[in-house]
Amino acid sequence: MQLIGPITQIVTLRGLSLRGSVSDDQLEIIYNGGVCVSDKNIVDVGPYSNLRKKYPNARITEIHSPSVMLPAFVDAHTHICWAGTRAADFAMRNAGKSYLEIAESGGGIWSTVTQTRLADQSELENGIINRSKKLIEQGITTVEIKSGYGLDIQTELKMLQAIKNTAERSDIRFISTCLAAHIKPHDFTGDQTAYLRWLLRELLPVVKAETLSRRVDIFTERSAFDIENSWMYLDAARSMGFDITIHADQFSPGGSILACKLKAVSADHLEASGEAEIKALAQSDTVAIALPGASLGLGEPFAPVRKLLDKGAIVAIASDWNPGSAPMGNLIAQASILASYEKITSAEIYASLTYRAAHALRINGIGVIDFGCSADFQLYETDDHREILYHQGQMLPSQVYSKGISLI
Ligand code: NIG
Ligand code: FE
Repeated sequence: MQLIGPITQIVTLRGLSLRGSVSDDQLEIIYNGGVCVSDKNIVDVGPYSNLRKKYPNARITEIHSPSVMLPAFVDAHTHICWAGTRAADFAMRNAGKSYLEIAESGGGIWSTVTQTRLADQSELENGIINRSKKLIEQGITTVEIKSGYGLDIQTELKMLQAIKNTAERSDIRFISTCLAAHIKPHDFTGDQTAYLRWLLRELLPVVKAETLSRRVDIFTERSAFDIENSWMYLDAARSMGFDITIHADQFSPGGSILACKLKAVSADHLEASGEAEIKALAQSDTVAIALPGASLGLGEPFAPVRKLLDKGAIVAIASDWNPGSAPMGNLIAQASILASYEKITSAEIYASLTYRAAHALRINGIGVIDFGCSADFQLYETDDHREILYHQGQMLPSQVYSKGISLI
């Protein structure tokens, strides 16, 4: 058994609610604490001096400097499997060009699709590994990754296989999601319905049989798939046994209400959610995932996180890291900026980046520092946890553990 400590503050996140608002004084902080790890799991947590006495034979990993321990973060929505760049889109958008003008000049999601189709699988795997290194540096040890830049059977499978291979080689957790319903590809002859039926017939059974993913996502939006088709597709995917999730209310509302009706695990984006959508989410078990990185990348409003929390929704925050709308990939910077704009407490930000995000991915035993949980945690060289968000993404952990393995 390994005993890590003494740690100035352990912010355990134990005992906090799954939904709604949380004040900072609800945070359990163990001062001069320690954590015992055995076989990838946390087997004890408490005051360091007590643990020293209780486990005299434990192997000690001594922490010398002032230190704050938090559970490792969970990024519950990314698109970090892609090839190419969309820097031209970004510059055009900032020069005032419209979505349509960017698409007509060869940009937009379709441009990443053409670049990703040309890439071989090992190039995609390298892209995932390089980007996930940046996520690990931020204390993230669980990362959701979507397909959705293939939009044909072969490339969607190539993306999901790249994610699976990377997961098998990595010490962190990757959760893949099939987003073949991202947009209707330009080279598909047939309407939206025909494309989605084709995916249901030709792609999802293979994804299932080859255990490439247990989750299905769709972009429900005017420019992508309408409510009716999204409903048909997700209902069928759910009957096949997939967890379902929606890119919902990014530019126009509606998708989140569908997500609640279908008991989707999450509704993600929500920049355009109004009162009806907030109410529906608050009354559901569907996790509302805000993606401030997409607001920052596109110059769009943030999702109404304060209102969602006040009404009692389960809220998570994720990076949406992708080449188009959210190229930054710095989840902690995004979450702390969102906190300033919407007045979100530190406790709410921590919850939204840990156990609430894990709930969206239907993973138990991470996101909290407690007996029996996976040993996924991070240490910062400071004596006050509030320094972390205060530095708006510029303070990085000095140590990151995933399943008991020290990665940094
Ligand atoms: O989550 N909204 C749709 N999909 C992505 C953007 C993908 C892209 O632009 O490449 C998103 O923002
Ligand atoms: Fe996304």
